[in-house]
Amino acid sequence: MQNADFSRNLLQWYQHHKREMPWRGELDPYKIWVSEIMLQQTRVDQATPYFQNFISLFPTVYDLADADQQQVLKAWEGLGYYSRARNLHTAAKTVVEEYNGKVPESYDEIIKLKGIGPYTAAAVTSIAFNAPNAVVDGNVIRVLCRYFGIEDDTRSSKTSRMIQEEADELIDPEHPGDFNQALMELGSEVCTPTNPDCENCPVQAGCIATKMSKTEVIPYKSPA
Ligand code: ADE
Repeated sequence: MQNADFSRNLLQWYQHHKREMPWRGELDPYKIWVSEIMLQQTRVDQATPYFQNFISLFPTVYDLADADQQQVLKAWEGLGYYSRARNLHTAAKTVVEEYNGKVPESYDEIIKLKGIGPYTAAAVTSIAFNAPNAVVDGNVIRVLCRYFGIEDDTRSSKTSRMIQEEADELIDPEHPGDFNQALMELGSEVCTPTNPDCENCPVQAGCIATKMSKTEVIPYKSPA
């Protein structure tokens, strides 16, 4: 399957199967950023009410920057990993003070902000600014290892680099934000850790793990 076919099939599937989420269709980089920070260690259904509450308390990056840390932590209460909230608050102040309240568009700038690593930088720049940066999270790693038949240890940094390179090559330059979200959605809803629903996978025709009956052993992760 060519990259263009992969992308067309994936995006078509996504249009029909994507779950409604309050940040989907959102183009405000601040809101996308908040959603992606919440989604790093929290499931979509748990994050959704927190996201809505957080945005009603702090509708813009200025509101967040102006807030007391206690207010921000209170809004995060129950989500865990509170350094996410503290870093988000610090980064909001940086955006206001150093970037005139505008979330930087470039990957190299946004990744300098506190709490933003390669995953969040790629997610925000692709979804909000249409930049062709591939998101690689646990779901994407599983999909791509199976699709390309990558049997190497996903714990090794060499494998991570290889997966990031495959993803960067595969990403649809016309629709990078939807492409990234579609791949995460596919991993979460179809290409699941156990019993993946290969019959309903839009890219099954090109998937090496399916062809070789290896979906239960790929991806491989060595014991910690
Ligand atoms: N997980 C993290 N971010 C996501 C997004 N934008 N869509 C689906 N799943 C996600």
